[in-house]
Amino acid sequence: MTRVLVTGVRAKTGRPLAELLVARSGVEVLGGSSDPATVSTDGVRPTAFSWDDTSGWPAATEGVDAVYVVRPDRPDAPELIGALLDGLPERTHVVLLSEQATDALAPDDWAVRAEQAVRRSGRSWTMVRPSWFMQVFTDPRYYLDQVAGRGELPFSSGGASVAWIDARDIAAVAEHALLDPGQAGQVHELSGPAALSLPRTAELLSAATGHPVAHREVPIEDVLAGSDGFARALTELTFRRVHAGSFAVVTDTVERVTGRPPRTLEAFLAPDRPTLQARRLTRARAGGAISRPAACCGCSRPRMG
Ligand SMILES: NC(=O)c1ccc[n+]([C@@H]2O[C@H](COP(=O)([O-])OP(=O)(O)OC[C@H]3O[C@@H](n4cnc5c(N)ncnc54)[C@H](OP(=O)(O)O)[C@@H]3O)[C@@H](O)[C@H]2O)c1
Repeated sequence: MTRVLVTGVRAKTGRPLAELLVARSGVEVLGGSSDPATVSTDGVRPTAFSWDDTSGWPAATEGVDAVYVVRPDRPDAPELIGALLDGLPERTHVVLLSEQATDALAPDDWAVRAEQAVRRSGRSWTMVRPSWFMQVFTDPRYYLDQVAGRGELPFSSGGASVAWIDARDIAAVAEHALLDPGQAGQVHELSGPAALSLPRTAELLSAATGHPVAHREVPIEDVLAGSDGFARALTELTFRRVHAGSFAVVTDTVERVTGRPPRTLEAFLAPDRPTLQARRLTRARAGGAISRPAACCGCSRPRMG
């Protein structure tokens, strides 16, 4: 039996990853959550895991053969990840959810240091470095209300494209990274099948929602309004990287690792058409009160996903 801990089993990639893992024979899946009572994925053992409470880590990681680490977007993430890995059995294989193109960052950058904590852990590891998730368009914490309710995609792109990726394709790569031999030391740069400009992205959202959606270019300074500290710095860097085209690089990694191509944005949106269209109607009947995109989801990278 292979025991796998998914630190964020309710996260966008953690949930589909857990579903893939429980379907494999001989795999026991521990679903890590700071609120384990809410873990509802069939076949997953809810497991108390909080970055804020290191006392729970020994129980959460006991006997694990592999760990999927959902990087927490907080300033002490590199140190926390290093401390977590120090306590793992030596045989444990670690897969880190990082982000695309971290090689282009400064050596002392936060995201680079989070990866270094894994490289220096003495455990075998695989890096998973995705572009932006398609789920930002269907998640009410991000662009859903703007897109489906107001017909607008407010996004700071600087004219660059983004190679949106379905979180389920990231999960599929992570499944292989956790369980397949030969994954140690691999760095997987992950993207969807195409780099889409924001106007083109808005066209595809228009088709899915059944009403016009227009991209509105937002200055980075406006995106940063109301935020401060680490969240502000991380958001600013993220959008500067968007402008530089860091998330526009298309790779063949999903197909190479999983044997099938990544989902297109059209295919991702298709099952959500009724929901997206109903949301428009609901909002219209409610008088159209629609909030801005969440400044921060409370734990994850602000406004990135
Ligand atoms: N979203 C994107 O487009 C994107 C793209 C590239 C890279 N990334 C990176 O991927 C990472 C994850 O982002 P995401 O968007 O997948 O996150 P997400 O879906 O918002 O999930 C965040 C996870 O953190 C968990 N969490 C919250 N508080 C916690 C705590 N105190 N202790 C332990 N776990 C806690 C949540 O689960 P519980 O509430 O159950 O604990 C949840 O599973 C981030 O580092 C982000 O920068 C994101």
